[in-house]
Amino acid sequence: MATLFSTLALYFSFTLLCFHLIAASFSPIDYYLINCGSHEPKTVDSDHRYFTGDSTMSFLASTGTISLTDASPSPKSSPIYHTARVFTRPSKYKFLIKNPGTHLLRLHFRRLISSSLDFNNAKFHVLANGFVLFNSLSIEMGQDFEIVKDYVIGVDSDVLVISFVPIDNSKFAFVNGIEVISAPKDLIADVAQYVRFDKNEQIHGLLKNGFETVYRVNVGGWKITPFNDSLWRTWVADDEYLKSNDGSSKVHFGGRINYQDGGASREVGPDNVYNSARVIRSSGDSVSKLNMTWTFPVIGGYMYLVRMHFCDIASVARGMLFFNVYVNDNLAYENLDLTSVTNGMLASPFYADVVVDGDSSGVLTLSVGPSNMSLPRAVDAILNGVEIMKINNSVGSLDGEICAHSVLKSWKKGSGSLYPMLAAVFLLLIAFVIMHRRRAGATDSGTWWRLPTEIPKVNMKYSNQLSSNKL
Ligand SMILES: *[C@@H]1O[C@H](CO)[C@@H](O)[C@H](O)[C@H]1NC(C)=O
Ligand SMILES: *[C@@H]1O[C@H](CO)[C@@H](O)[C@H](O)[C@H]1NC(C)=O
Ligand SMILES: *[C@@H]1O[C@H](CO)[C@@H](O)[C@H](O)[C@H]1NC(C)=O
Ligand SMILES: *[C@@H]1O[C@H](CO)[C@@H](O)[C@H](O)[C@H]1NC(C)=O
Repeated sequence: MATLFSTLALYFSFTLLCFHLIAASFSPIDYYLINCGSHEPKTVDSDHRYFTGDSTMSFLASTGTISLTDASPSPKSSPIYHTARVFTRPSKYKFLIKNPGTHLLRLHFRRLISSSLDFNNAKFHVLANGFVLFNSLSIEMGQDFEIVKDYVIGVDSDVLVISFVPIDNSKFAFVNGIEVISAPKDLIADVAQYVRFDKNEQIHGLLKNGFETVYRVNVGGWKITPFNDSLWRTWVADDEYLKSNDGSSKVHFGGRINYQDGGASREVGPDNVYNSARVIRSSGDSVSKLNMTWTFPVIGGYMYLVRMHFCDIASVARGMLFFNVYVNDNLAYENLDLTSVTNGMLASPFYADVVVDGDSSGVLTLSVGPSNMSLPRAVDAILNGVEIMKINNSVGSLDGEICAHSVLKSWKKGSGSLYPMLAAVFLLLIAFVIMHRRRAGATDSGTWWRLPTEIPKVNMKYSNQLSSNKL
């Protein structure tokens, strides 16, 4: 009887454990990974994720777009960068949203090698549900590197519309990949601490903003690829942002990270963020007089949400770590005591959100250092990770002073767009060939078939697109 009981108990605790593990893994309701310009139903990217081609699906809500395939794709680049969709006039993708609320949006760009399009003419804006996400004039788009733009936006309707708008009708827009993923409800809170030289107060209403992740850093650790993050994010090492590493040291923790309800979840930060950190230790009888400081180049004129990730993986006992946190040299948290915010548990993650103004100095600084409660012979400051997110300005833009409405209005319809030009060239070529054949009296059909292969590929794809993407 006793054995049966303990077997049952074991069984129940095992099922409970399984339930716990299943419940713990996040599965987003809205999950779109799009390989733009691809005719393949599925493409596996370098992180083993399946991207759907946009040629047969209904996401693309505009006609007259061009699908382009790289003539000589770099073997080092993920397959999603080997095709692109090109837009010569304002065009959009529409994604049905089943789970309104915060969504992650990522856009992938890499210039292709193409004989038919000069990528120096890729000049465009990208909009999403009324926000201006970016203006291609403000970023360097090279052939040899990929650009991933990472956004967090609230979607309160049942559709997310992403628009690509060429600067004018002699230019074009393009995109290689799009990700739209619903975020856990609590990923971004509506309140944060607003820290300025003259005040430190709560700010409300954050959820009405759009955010662009400008830095996502795993302090004291390695780069984390989307494969190891439950929201498929990339985190980079902190070395290049650390101002001076005198007196600080990296720590790595091989034990289990104690995620707790109400604290940071794995979606807020994965294990690999919390199991590494940089710390200041006081070894002698006095507390070290030292801050660790990181500096991040930012663009002035925007507010930034700074999310700091903490997890005490370095102290030998509870209640020994007290430190101060400064943002832009202003005190954000004094005598931060990780033990008290994690219910007295070591190796338990905690995060703090602070909003700051990006000032004209062009840098955002973040420091952690001993407080006047810090103890000698103890860890006296720690940081495990940091994310810096740009907040849209008052016109709803994350890149410049122009609002989404004006971007759309500024595009003028004209006859100078790329498609009519290419079509005209095509017709002229055909006319030329026909006349040539007539004059020469040629009967060799081979001559006829050879010429169209010299028409840029883009042009052929384009004509397919006209019929296949009507909506
Ligand atoms: C994922 O994380 C594990 C453990 O840290 C590491 O060994 C592995 O190389 C990582 N994989 C990728 C693809 O980054
Ligand atoms: C740490 O930096 C803050 C903000 O710049 C400064 O006020 C404080 O004095 C510094 N602490 C030490 C120990 O240098
Ligand atoms: C602790 O530091 C604060 C300012 O950082 C100061 O106002 C306060 O007097 C200090 N407390 C002690 C006990 O020194
Ligand atoms: C960001 O844009 C939203 C929507 O346009 C607006 O309500 C909000 O005030 C903007 N944020 C800031 C900080 O201006």
